[in-house]
Amino acid sequence: MKRKNLEQIKKLETPPKIINLFSEKEIKMIQDLYDSLPTRVFNKIQNVKKKAWIQNYNKELDKIYFDKLKDVLGDFKMDTLKSDTGVEYYGLFHESFSPLKLHVDSGFDEDALIFKQVVTPLSSFGDTVIFKNRWYGKSTSFTIDQEELKFKPKPDQNERSSKHLGKSDFDKNIHQKYLTHIDINNLKGLEVDMVYSWKFGETLIMDRSHIHSSSSRINEKKLGLTTFTKK
Ligand SMILES: [Fe+2]
Repeated sequence: MKRKNLEQIKKLETPPKIINLFSEKEIKMIQDLYDSLPTRVFNKIQNVKKKAWIQNYNKELDKIYFDKLKDVLGDFKMDTLKSDTGVEYYGLFHESFSPLKLHVDSGFDEDALIFKQVVTPLSSFGDTVIFKNRWYGKSTSFTIDQEELKFKPKPDQNERSSKHLGKSDFDKNIHQKYLTHIDINNLKGLEVDMVYSWKFGETLIMDRSHIHSSSSRINEKKLGLTTFTKK
């Protein structure tokens, strides 16, 4: 896929940053929303439970969230997901018991001017490893497994690719410390930009073109809210 607005996307890129965006009360509202939402996907293999943030479920919170983000990002649109029944999802709550592997959340619409993704940890375990390397195709899971590379995604599923690979070996110490759930040969050519250690209630803002993964350091369940923006 070739993005028409690649140059504009690149111009909007900034280093990842961690901020305290929400007050204690607002984080409590987000937690309450999580508790009240229905479970959407429970993938037993990946050990991930997902709940979609249904738009208008708590209109007050929708507005608070958007306005707070606007203070930091300037003008943007939420890149909402649509369910089969046409319900708009504002974002996703991820509850995982095992770490996510190498991927990018660049979206499924090649005309979209993708912008930032926003991660708010609701637990203080684990890390997000953000690589300097970027990807401008659709949302993709990166793998060197020949069988997995044959996977044919549906329109809202991640593609599979090994085209992220470079030549240089990945740092063995970083692999040992954070990424033992990923084959070190699947990390060739990658360089770490930031390892963000999750802290309850903080917010990580990063470009949607960043290749990233969870760290292997999950000893309790990890819960976070992720939303996606576009211009
Ligand atoms: Fe992600």
